[in-house]
Amino acid sequence: MINALWYLGRGTGVVSLVLLTLVVGLGIATRSGRPLPGLPRFAVTAVHRSASLLAVAFLVVHVGTLLFDPYAQLDVLSLVVPFTAAAQPFWYGLGALALDLILALVATSLLRDRIGPRIWRGIHWAAYAAWPIALAHGLGSGRDAGTGWMLTTTGLCVAAVLGAVGWRVSDRFAEVRGPAPAPVVPAPLIGVR
Ligand code: HEM
Repeated sequence: MINALWYLGRGTGVVSLVLLTLVVGLGIATRSGRPLPGLPRFAVTAVHRSASLLAVAFLVVHVGTLLFDPYAQLDVLSLVVPFTAAAQPFWYGLGALALDLILALVATSLLRDRIGPRIWRGIHWAAYAAWPIALAHGLGSGRDAGTGWMLTTTGLCVAAVLGAVGWRVSDRFAEVRGPAPAPVVPAPLIGVR
């Protein structure tokens, strides 16, 4: 059982990182206002939203299982207050920092109608900070960081985000002027009063 928690905790960490990579790439694609091969514009936004929800779900399992794993020595506070973990405070603290930023992104997306698009967009820039912080956390604390499959996964994630960011800052990136893109509201909450 203890081993199962340990493997589930680490496995969901890797899946979360891959999903966050997808979310960053799709977020940039959404902002471009362009379709992707096989995905019309509205679908790019919808997949961005769904991938965000899925990433948060995997993150909940990641921290939830590791909270009960005796090896990680975590308590509820150290999940959200950076650099307070008993073991590996720096590397686990980066995970907590990334989690806080992601929670802020989700919360402000849910409250976007109230806070307005300017504040929402300003806070959404935090996605560019959350991703490398999460990556550093995985590399620094992960037991699998030196394995071939994890190095390959990390390399592909880095290449994907660098490619997307490179496109974002290039002259070819045409932003949609006018209405800002739809907020990242978890799909099941849409339409719920
Ligand atoms: C955006 C948020 C996060 C992401 C994307 C993430 C991702 C990862 C990844 C990729 C690994 C490496 C797994 C492996 O090598 O097999 C990992 C390990 C781990 N993470 Fe996270 N993580 C996040 C947040 C957190 C938080 C908030 C905590 C708790 C403070 C945490 C605690 C751990 C622990 C205890 C490990 C295992 C380290 C070890 O192998 O010794 N993570 N995480």
